[in-house]
Amino acid sequence: MITFDDWYKGLRLARKTVIGRKTIYLEVVKSTMDEAHRLASQGWEEGVIVAAGRQTHGRGRKGRKWVSDPGGLYFSIILRPPKKVLGILPLTLGIAVARGIEDAVEVNIGLKWPNDLLVEGKKLGGILCEAHGGKEIEHVVAGVGINVLNKPPRGGTSLLLLSGKVDVPFLICELVSRIDRAYHMVRKGESDRLLDDWKNKSVTLGRRVKAYLPGGREVSGLAVGISDNGELLLDVGDRTVALNSADVSISDLEGV
Ligand code: BTN
Repeated sequence: MITFDDWYKGLRLARKTVIGRKTIYLEVVKSTMDEAHRLASQGWEEGVIVAAGRQTHGRGRKGRKWVSDPGGLYFSIILRPPKKVLGILPLTLGIAVARGIEDAVEVNIGLKWPNDLLVEGKKLGGILCEAHGGKEIEHVVAGVGINVLNKPPRGGTSLLLLSGKVDVPFLICELVSRIDRAYHMVRKGESDRLLDDWKNKSVTLGRRVKAYLPGGREVSGLAVGISDNGELLLDVGDRTVALNSADVSISDLEGV
């Protein structure tokens, strides 16, 4: 299990200004998302991390279950971003997490829109962003799940399988440092470099994908770009449609 000690050592080394100034570690929790939402609603500040050794009801995007056995890295962060960056937040966190992992472990990560982390076509981890509030967003919780030492679910992979050995505190240090830096850039309106880096590591752009829209409709097309707002631009033949990560699931047609 990834322990309090791993987090303590990792955070002590991390270069952090906002993210991880305060971290709560729970050995077992239903979902770190729920804990982080609860604390955020009580007024806890931006940057607080809720980490867990395992989760009994971990969740992924689109209401999917996120298997959270001991050995995986599971954490959620309380954020209070300006509304205008909500669209790009998932992508910028995705590239920060990918680069953080690559700093610590010798792997080459591909990003599948909006923010699946893949290695050799297998899922290594994912990010879930949940906004709370009505028209005025009160807070966002960003959850990160990475298969580290745990046995990955079918179709997945783990850092242990990929590299044989993982320095967990160093991994935590690099992740927190990268997320802190990326969030700082996003807040300042300087996310262009992050989005360019996201595009470089994308395994979605240039491929044909199928998107599932709310209400059961499907569209297929060529993924041609990302809008300034983080939407996936799909060339469907006679026009280009912009897909919003909050509403759409995609599967590839070309076997990523
Ligand atoms: C996805 O790929 O669907 C996103 C997975 C996000 C999983 C993380 S693990 C920590 C946090 N707590 C949860 O219940 N989910 C996120």
